[in-house]
Amino acid sequence: MAEYPGLGEVRGKRVLVRSDLNVPLDGAAEAKVITDDGRIRASVPTIKALADAGARVVVTAHLGRPNGEPDPEFSLRPVAQRLGELLDASVTFAGDTVGPEAQEAVAGLEDGQVVVLENVRFNAGETSKDDDERGAFADRLAALADAFVSDGFGVVHRKQASVYDVAQRLPHTMGALVATEVEVLRRLTIDPERPYVVVLGGSKVSDKLGVIDNLLEKADKLLIGGGMVFTFLAAQGHGVGNSLLEEEQIQTCRDYLARAAASGVEIVLPTDIVVADSFGDEASARVVAADAIPETTLGLDIGPDSASAFAAALADARTVFWNGPMGVFEVPAFAEGTRAVADALTRVDGLSVVGGGDSAAAVRTLGFDEDAFGHISTGGGASLEYLEGKELPGITVLEAS
Ligand code: 3PG
Repeated sequence: MAEYPGLGEVRGKRVLVRSDLNVPLDGAAEAKVITDDGRIRASVPTIKALADAGARVVVTAHLGRPNGEPDPEFSLRPVAQRLGELLDASVTFAGDTVGPEAQEAVAGLEDGQVVVLENVRFNAGETSKDDDERGAFADRLAALADAFVSDGFGVVHRKQASVYDVAQRLPHTMGALVATEVEVLRRLTIDPERPYVVVLGGSKVSDKLGVIDNLLEKADKLLIGGGMVFTFLAAQGHGVGNSLLEEEQIQTCRDYLARAAASGVEIVLPTDIVVADSFGDEASARVVAADAIPETTLGLDIGPDSASAFAAALADARTVFWNGPMGVFEVPAFAEGTRAVADALTRVDGLSVVGGGDSAAAVRTLGFDEDAFGHISTGGGASLEYLEGKELPGITVLEAS
């Protein structure tokens, strides 16, 4: 079959695919090691389907946040190599995005072959707020292809050239990954099966204001852990020692607690906390009551009682959305809260969604079987913005034309 859904016949056509290959890397520029290839693996099915259908596949993606100019720290070269391994095919890498290397590599493609272009954010036009500048760059990108497939779910909340403007310049369709992600998130927002429990963690409450605001009316229970919990504890009048605290959000958290109480939504906060004398000092880790955090310590995980209470709150849930680790899961002494939540999600009888970014990495780092979860999103910010009810430019542009 040489057809791709939404595009029709693709054999011999140059198809530009926007993937989200923004993966964590470790090590020096010339010897980078990919520490979690989840996003690359999630991008494979669409690229493979196009290649199998005989398309000449041109993959564009970003890595990190370079400054609009080439920076070897953020090269996609190691990612292209990993993609080739996963596709079990040779993947060409072009050392620029729209320049002579890209043009030559695309011109040299045969049916079913794949090229990865260098980091699209090495070009100032990609992220420019100026429509003309972005459009001029999108013109150059679009000139490399006959059609466009939008498959980078993690970036659909960005109005950027390779996500938004290029779709206005080429026949386009939604890739399989974006379609699946949108379908799952739709199930979380339109008539979710109840009880609907949302677990939020991560360091900053200010990153989650929109989603808390929106979900306070929709979820049955909201479990809160991670660094953001200390602003809630402060809102209840407790001291939090040297823990992360966003003073300017204390009143907002107080309002959330009051709104939840008034609307019958249960906000579950930890009753105990794993603290340490300093960030790197695992040896001093100990459990204290959440309302008695010693002044000289900082909280780095939810405690064991809280982990059990969170697991119990998830036991009868039929729909769960989780975003943000419960503690500093990369350090074994502070990983148990996150492990308990992940474990409870694997036992949910219904739809369990891990909302991208750090929580997706945590699930894999802690050795959970990905298939045990209903869905692991590739988009942190994108899934949060969807749940906030915001418009995602990378989706609306596909629907508009
Ligand atoms: C992500 O990591 O969430 C996506 O790749 C988007 O990256 P950005 O926040 O740098 O736009």
